[in-house]
Amino acid sequence: MDDQFSTFVYTKHENKLAVGKIIDIGNGKLTVEILNSMCAVEVNYNEVYPTEADQEKDVDDHCALMYLNEATLLQNCKRRYQRKLIYTYLAHILVSVNPYEVITDLYSLDNIRKYKNKSLGVLPPHVFAIADKAHRDMRRLNCSQAIVISGESGAGKTESQKHILRFYCENFGQLVIIEQRILEANPILEAFGNAKTTRNSNSSRFGKFFDVCGGFVEHYLLEKSRIISSNPKERNYHIFYYLLASQELHDDLHIYGDVQNFQYLKSGDSLSDEDIMNFKKQLENLIQALDRIGFSSKQRNDIFKVIAGILHLGNVNFEETKVNARGCEISNVSEQSLDYAAELLGLDSDELSINLTTRIMTTTKRGGGTVYSICLKPSEAENSKNSLTKAIYSRLFDEIVAAINRSIPFGDSVNYIGILDIAGFEYFEVNSFEQFCINYANEKMQHFFNERILKSEQQIYSEDSLEVGQVLYSDNLDCIELFESTNGLLNILDEESRLPKPTHNHFTETVHARLKNHPRLLIPRKSARKENRSLRDSDGFVVRHYADEVTYQSAQFLGKNHDTLHDSLFNLMHHTSNDLLKSLFTSNENSMPNKPSSTNLFKSRSVSHKFRSQLDLLLKKLRETQTHFVRCFKPNQDQVLENFEEFFVLKQLNAAGMPSVLSLMQAGYPSRLVFNELYAKYKPYISEIKELQRLDPRIFCQCLFKSLGFNDCDYKFGLTKVFFRAGKFAAFDQLLKQDQPSIQEFVSKTRSWLIRMRFKKVAWSVLAAIKIKNRIQFRVATIRRIQNWIKCNTVQNRITEKLMIIRKVILIQNGENELREVVSKLHKENQAIWTEKITDFIKRLDDFLDDIKKNVELADPSLLLKFQRFQIEFDKHLDDLKNQAEEDEKRRILELEARIQAEKEREEAERQSKLEAERIREEQRKIEEKRRQEEEEKCRQEALAEEEARQKEDVQDTPNTLTTLKYGELRKIINTSLACRLECHRRMRGYLAWKQKSMSKKGA
Ligand SMILES: Nc1ncnc2c1ncn2[C@@H]1O[C@H](COP(=O)(O)OP(=O)(O)OP(=O)(O)O)[C@@H](O)[C@H]1O
Ligand SMILES: [Mg+2]
Repeated sequence: MDDQFSTFVYTKHENKLAVGKIIDIGNGKLTVEILNSMCAVEVNYNEVYPTEADQEKDVDDHCALMYLNEATLLQNCKRRYQRKLIYTYLAHILVSVNPYEVITDLYSLDNIRKYKNKSLGVLPPHVFAIADKAHRDMRRLNCSQAIVISGESGAGKTESQKHILRFYCENFGQLVIIEQRILEANPILEAFGNAKTTRNSNSSRFGKFFDVCGGFVEHYLLEKSRIISSNPKERNYHIFYYLLASQELHDDLHIYGDVQNFQYLKSGDSLSDEDIMNFKKQLENLIQALDRIGFSSKQRNDIFKVIAGILHLGNVNFEETKVNARGCEISNVSEQSLDYAAELLGLDSDELSINLTTRIMTTTKRGGGTVYSICLKPSEAENSKNSLTKAIYSRLFDEIVAAINRSIPFGDSVNYIGILDIAGFEYFEVNSFEQFCINYANEKMQHFFNERILKSEQQIYSEDSLEVGQVLYSDNLDCIELFESTNGLLNILDEESRLPKPTHNHFTETVHARLKNHPRLLIPRKSARKENRSLRDSDGFVVRHYADEVTYQSAQFLGKNHDTLHDSLFNLMHHTSNDLLKSLFTSNENSMPNKPSSTNLFKSRSVSHKFRSQLDLLLKKLRETQTHFVRCFKPNQDQVLENFEEFFVLKQLNAAGMPSVLSLMQAGYPSRLVFNELYAKYKPYISEIKELQRLDPRIFCQCLFKSLGFNDCDYKFGLTKVFFRAGKFAAFDQLLKQDQPSIQEFVSKTRSWLIRMRFKKVAWSVLAAIKIKNRIQFRVATIRRIQNWIKCNTVQNRITEKLMIIRKVILIQNGENELREVVSKLHKENQAIWTEKITDFIKRLDDFLDDIKKNVELADPSLLLKFQRFQIEFDKHLDDLKNQAEEDEKRRILELEARIQAEKEREEAERQSKLEAERIREEQRKIEEKRRQEEEEKCRQEALAEEEARQKEDVQDTPNTLTTLKYGELRKIINTSLACRLECHRRMRGYLAWKQKSMSKKGA
C-alpha cells in the first residue's frame, strides 16, 4: 500500500472525526494511530474512511478528491464552511451548509450578474450557478427544469429558494411587475405559512413548488394542528403575532394584551420586545406586499379580521349544560370572545353559539331525509370549534396562494423552471400525523432522487454502452409500498376512519396485524431507540425509513386525517357577511354529508389521501422535468454560527442518501458532453484542413483529447457522449471556452497528432500484416497436423479390430516355441505325432495371418470368429500337450525307478560276496597270526635259554654298571667284553622279533 495515500483514514475518536494512519490490520479490526495524539485505537473496517494525506485541502467539487466517502465529504464541507465557503459541488448536486450569518457579498447584485451564463465549475460553487444551469439547460434542451431543494428544518431551503428567485428576477426578468410579485409572494407566504419551531425560528410549515416562468405557486400540506396548539418554545403562524404586535389594529380586531390572553397562542413561546418590533416591521412589509399583489384594503382588513376571529374563536370554551344532560353551552367567561369572533367573522353570535354546540343531521333516504339537531358534548363542541378554525385558516391560506398566483401574469414560455422547497425528513420525541405525511413525502422524494441520480445515471451509462459497474443503493420502494399498497398504512388509516366508532388503538392494532411481516414496520418494543420501547403496541408503530427509523404515536392520526367540518358550520360560514370568508366556503369538499358515503367519496376527503394525490401530481411534474438538486445541511442544532457538529451533519448526509451518490460518483462518470456540440465549436476551424475535415465528430473529439495529452482514465467515449470522471470535467470544460487563437493551436496540435498517428498506424499495420501472415501459416500447419491426425484416427478406427486380431494372431504364433518346448519334453513316440500336429496348426495360422494382411481393408465380421477358433485350438493344443507331457513324465519316472531298484539289488549282491571273502581272509590271517605267535614264543624261549647261559659266562667280565661307563670305556668293553656282545646280540634279536611281528600285522 502506498504510504502516501490510502493508509490515511478518518475514524471516530473522542466524539470527533480524526485523521489517523492504519498501523495494523487484524481480523475484522484495524488499528489506527490518531495523528497528533500519539494514541492508537481499534476500529471496525466499516468505521474508517480512506482519505488523502493533505488535511488542509478543500475543493470546489468534491469529486476532485481522490477518495469519495461521507467522511471526506464532511471534512471538505467543514473546511470550506470554516473558510466561509458554504457551497460545495458533488458533481452537479449542490451541497449547502447554513452559515447562520450574512456572508458579505455572497448574494450581491454583482455576484448575481457574474454567475449569469457561466457553466458549472467556472466560478466557485453557488446556488446561482445551479439556477443559471437550469436556465441554460431549459433553453438548450428545450425542456422544463426543476430545482429540488431539500434538507432538515432550518437547513436553509427557503433562503436558497429566495436567492434563486432573486437570481432569475434580476438576470432574466423582463417585466418588472412580475419579478416584484414573485419576490413579494415570499413575505406573504411566510407570514401565513411560517412559524417559529425549535429547529427554525422561521420554519415553513408547508411545502411549495414555485414555477418561475409560469409565475405559479403550488403548496402542500399546511400544518393545521399548529393553529390550535403549539409546543412550548414554538409558536403559531407568524400572522397571529403580527396582529398582536400592531397596536393600530387592536381596537378594530379587539386584540388586547399578550399571547397569554389567547388560548391558541399561550401554549407556545411568549414574545420579547425585540420580537414585537420585528413583527411590527414585518406586518408593514406584509401590508405592502398584499397591496402589491392586488388585495384591496378591504380585502386585507377582511383577512386580518378572519385571523383575529380565529384567535377569539379559540378562546371560546364550553361547559355542560344544566338543562340537557348530553349537551353543552358556551361558558360565561367566553361570551365576550364569542361576540368578538362573531363580529370579526361576520356572523350572528347566537347563531355561532348554536352551531358550535349543536349539529344538524339529516336521516338517510330510508329514514325520510328528516333534519334534526344533535346537542354536542363539551369535548365534541371543542373539536367542532377547532375544526372550524383549522378549516377557516387553511382555506384562507389556499386563497392567499391563489391570489398570489392570480396576481402574477402567466409567462408565455412552454417550459418552466420549478423550485421545490419541501420539508425534509424529520422526527421528534413525539411524532404524529404531520411527521407521518412529511416523511412519507420524503420517502417519495428520496425515491425520485435515487431514480434521477442513481438509476437514470446508470441508465445513461448503459444507453451509451459505457461499462460501469453496477452501484448498489438502498432502494426504498418497499417503504413506499408500506404506505401505498392496498393493505398499506394510508389505506388502513382511511378504512379505520370509516368505522362507526374509530379508535387509534384499533387502527394501530390493525396496522400491526396486517403488516406484521413487513420488513419496514416494527412494533415500538422492537425499536432501536430505547425511549420508544415503553410505548404500547396499540399506541404506535415504527417505520424504518430510508434515513432513520421513526416511531409514530397514533393517538391523533384519525382525527387529523379525518379533519372534517360538519355541515352546520359550513352553512354558517357560507352565510357570513365577511365577503372574503364567504368566498372561502363556496364548496364543502371537506364536510361529511349526513348520508353514508361511498368509500371513494370518503377517501377523497381524507387529508392523507389529498396529500398523496398532490404528491403524485408533484412527482409526475418533476418526472417531466430535468432535475437539479440542492441539498441543504444544518451545521448544528443550536442555530449558531461557526459551530460545525460533525456527527450531526454526518447524520444528515446519510439521511439525504449521499453515500450512494458518492459511490456512484467514485465509480461512474458524473460529467458528460455530447461530442457533436464540441465538434460544432471546432468545425469552423477545421473546414480548411484536409486531414481533419473528413473526420466524424466522435473521431475528431478522440483525436483532440489525445493530442492534448488527456489521461485516458479520466474520460470515456460512449456512443453519443464523452463521459468524464468525477472532478475532471473542469479541465475539459476549458476546451469549450477557448478563444480563437487557442482553438487554432488545439486544431494544429490535433492535425500533427493525427499525421503522426497515421504514420504509426501504417507502420503498425505492416507489422501487424507480417504477424498475421505468420499466424496464418502457423494455423495452416496446425490445421494440417490436425487433419492428418484425424485421417489417421479414422483409418485406425476402421482397422482397429483387424489390427487387434493380427496382434493376437502374432501372439499365438509366438506361442509356437512354447508348444515346441512342451513337445520336446514328450516321449519320443509322442514327439513325432505332436510335431506334425503343431506344424500343421502353425501353417494354418500363417495362412490365416496372410489372409488378414492381404485383405486388411475389408471388414470381415467372421474374422474374429475365425481367430477365436484358432485361439481355442491353440489353447487346446497347449493343454493337451501339457497333459501328454505330464503322462510321459510319469511314465519316465516309473521306468527310472525300476532301473534304480535293479541297480540297488545288484550292488547288494556284490557287497555280500565281498563281505564273505573278507571274512574268510580274516580267519586265515588269524590262523597265521596264531602260528607266528607260537613260533615267536618258541624263539623267545630259545633266546631266553641262550641268554641265561651267556649271562653266566659274562658275569665276571662285565662291569657292574655299564651305564656309568664312558663311551670310550664302553666301546672298549664292547669290543673286548663278551657280556656286551651278548647284550648286543640279545637286543638285536629282540628288535628283529618285534620287526617281524609288526611286518606280519601290516601284511594281514
Ligand atoms: N444562505 C444563508 N445565509 C445566511 N443565513 C442563512 C442562509 N440560509 C439559511 N440561513 C439562516 O437559517 C435560517 C433558516 O433557514 P430557512 O428558513 O431557509 O430553513 P428551511 O430549510 O426553509 O427550514 P424549514 O424547513 O423549517 O422551513 C434562516 O432564517 C437564516 O437565518
Ligand atoms: Mg423553509
